[in-house]
Amino acid sequence: MFFVRTAGEQDLEKVRALLGETWHATYDRLYGADKVNELHASWHSPASLKARLARKNSEFLVADDGKAIGGMGYAAMSTEMTKTVMLYMLYVSPRHQRQGIGRDIFAELETCFPDAEIMRLEVDPQNEPAIAFYKAHGFVEVSRTENCGNAQSGIPALVFEKRLVGDSIQL
Ligand SMILES: CC(C)(COP(=O)(O)OP(=O)(O)OC[C@H]1O[C@@H](n2cnc3c(N)ncnc32)[C@H](O)[C@@H]1OP(=O)(O)O)[C@@H](O)C(=O)NCCC(=O)NCCS
Repeated sequence: MFFVRTAGEQDLEKVRALLGETWHATYDRLYGADKVNELHASWHSPASLKARLARKNSEFLVADDGKAIGGMGYAAMSTEMTKTVMLYMLYVSPRHQRQGIGRDIFAELETCFPDAEIMRLEVDPQNEPAIAFYKAHGFVEVSRTENCGNAQSGIPALVFEKRLVGDSIQL
């Protein structure tokens, strides 16, 4: 049974391993294994993960069953867009997918940012399972980018958003 909790520095090695495994399972068919190795080494380096953990106005979560980390999620308030939280990472290890772990991590992340009105993310147009997951959780496509992750990546992505407020009845 996995439960979702805040990550600590002691989790980062396992998180990094989970990201490596999940990235190869997800993206090798899209970018090739060499490119995935390159991106994983750069985006998920111990220093990069540590910096994310330390970032203000962010949440770094893991799904833990006492033995293994089955998934992770990371979101942070945007520094460019007001009242917008960016969902930067949501990864569940291949053997634990489709068991509700992604849903549980997302449900927690959704409630962690009371000042945010919008949650925004980027997803590869060919990553159909993730697109299905996000649509099932109320996201809609708002635009596209040619540079997912950073300005030079050259990786195309769909930009999805979800309104986090506004469903309540105005009295
Ligand atoms: C996308 C991901 C985070 C979803 O997490 P998960 O734990 O596997 O998904 P859940 O079991 O919580 O699924 C919740 C709902 O999302 C939808 N969904 C999830 N995976 C799906 C799939 N492969 N195909 C269609 N719908 C899917 C379904 O509606 C599902 O509900 P259901 O199982 O009752 O039908 C996970 O599969 C993953 O890590 N994938 C690889 C990495 C990745 O692409 N991450 C996102 C990068 S932008």
